[in-house]
Amino acid sequence: MLVKPGRLDGCHIVNFPKVSDYRGNLSFIEESRQIPFVIKRVYYLYDVPSGASRGGHAHKELEQVVIALSGSFDVILDDGEHRRTFFLNRPHYGLYIPAGIWRELENFSSNSVALSLVSQVYDEGDYLREYEEFKRWITNNDNRAGREFGNYR
Ligand code: TYD
Repeated sequence: MLVKPGRLDGCHIVNFPKVSDYRGNLSFIEESRQIPFVIKRVYYLYDVPSGASRGGHAHKELEQVVIALSGSFDVILDDGEHRRTFFLNRPHYGLYIPAGIWRELENFSSNSVALSLVSQVYDEGDYLREYEEFKRWITNNDNRAGREFGNYR
């Protein structure tokens, strides 16, 4: 039986180096080592009210690594067929999200900061903000998405 790889397989946790001593912890991120794309933009979510949810969109081209720099939150990923939830709560872990994945960020703890490193400057044209539009886009770009996800397994 031919099994099509789940595109969610391309989403994974990246472990950043952590240097610990009696003064505390230090982590660092080097684009060429831990990030599988050139970082074009950095943005962060903070002061998220309890119960609020962020995201609620997918990207056509943009790749992203999300880090819980402080506090914790859930990232729910959806490839149009399957959903998977990642709980982020440590600043030395990042979640890599390839293009073509619907994401929702929920259950923010108080004082949480969600840092995103992304592969594109801000471009509203790269967003798929309606879930049905996302599903149509996935269907029409299936082969392309499969290749991209394969790269980062
Ligand atoms: P939005 O995409 O809704 O945020 P999130 O997906 O993280 O919940 O963005 C909120 C607003 O901020 C929207 O008007 C677009 C704007 N924005 C920028 O101008 N630049 C950026 O880098 C980002 C991420 C958003």
